[in-house]
Amino acid sequence: MPCTVIVGAFWGDEGKGKIISYLALKDNLDFCVRTGSVNAAHTVWYENKKYALHMVPAAFINPKTRLLVAAGANVHVAQFFKEVELTQVQTRIGIDENASIIEEKHSAQDKASAVNKGIGTTGWGVGPAIEERVKRTAKLAKDLPELKPYVADTITEINDGLDQGKNVLLEGTQGFMLSLFLGGGYPYVTSRDTGASAIASEAGVGPTRVDEVIIVFKSFITRVGAGPLPGEITKEEALKRGWFEVAAGTGRERRSAPFDFDLAKKNARINGATQAALTKLDVIFPECNGKRRFDDLSAEAKQFVKEIEEKTGVPVTLIGTGPNALDIIDRRK
Ligand code: IMP
Ligand code: MG
Repeated sequence: MPCTVIVGAFWGDEGKGKIISYLALKDNLDFCVRTGSVNAAHTVWYENKKYALHMVPAAFINPKTRLLVAAGANVHVAQFFKEVELTQVQTRIGIDENASIIEEKHSAQDKASAVNKGIGTTGWGVGPAIEERVKRTAKLAKDLPELKPYVADTITEINDGLDQGKNVLLEGTQGFMLSLFLGGGYPYVTSRDTGASAIASEAGVGPTRVDEVIIVFKSFITRVGAGPLPGEITKEEALKRGWFEVAAGTGRERRSAPFDFDLAKKNARINGATQAALTKLDVIFPECNGKRRFDDLSAEAKQFVKEIEEKTGVPVTLIGTGPNALDIIDRRK
């Protein structure tokens, strides 16, 4: 640590929630800052319970971690309260006073838009909510009386924490290929920049204060909604390989494709990745399920990890071998 950005490498759903929940416990995070909006769901499996979090930071499983929702984030109030109740984090969660609010009308606008239908948005209304923020007509967290107990100056809190050498994790959402500016997939993108620099920016952290950027790769690639997916396989083939997934947030079927080394290299570079996490290794190499030591992986699995390191030039320091937060091979010093 102390200031780490977690960024998704592909089209989201790489397993960022799992990596963050592991780091929350292992590195005893002092702060975890959620960026983005309600369209992204982070899955955390802990003590036999599954959580799909759209608002509360994935580090909630460490009771000592201060949980913050960034100034650049966009808050769905009902979902926020639902998750605060579920995770019981009332005393240690804060929302930046200037975070914007997403309302019911935005979801209706999203669903009524032919353009958004063609893109296959999640339907939460994030695009219309951000449009309103850009128009300078959005409500902010400080405008809502019901949020008063949670409203904070998170930018000062985070930067004070960094001054004091605290462990701060900036939780990126979605994937780099969905970036409004950088992934090259416009118009099949989301309504914000999802890259590492933007994650820091949303949280109010300057680029020179970031120590580590962990890019999260999944062992195969998935995408929901429309837009190109190089190397896409059929649903039948995905089912056969065990790659078929249904979205945690929307229940939509995910499309899938094999791991793409060239894309991994390109995105590691643009995001300035210093480390990589690799999730779901056990899905492509079932014999690796639950392993917690690199030496215990099969030769084939080790070769796959080495190939990623060689081709991207980034060390694969964290490897997910099962859904539980602690099913991780940690190769950091
Ligand atoms: P929107 O962000 O709901 O406007 O959707 C725009 C595009 O981003 C669609 O292709 C969505 O499927 C995709 N998308 C948005 N959030 C996520 C996410 O958290 N995981 C995966 N795809 C997402
Ligand atoms: Mg997700």
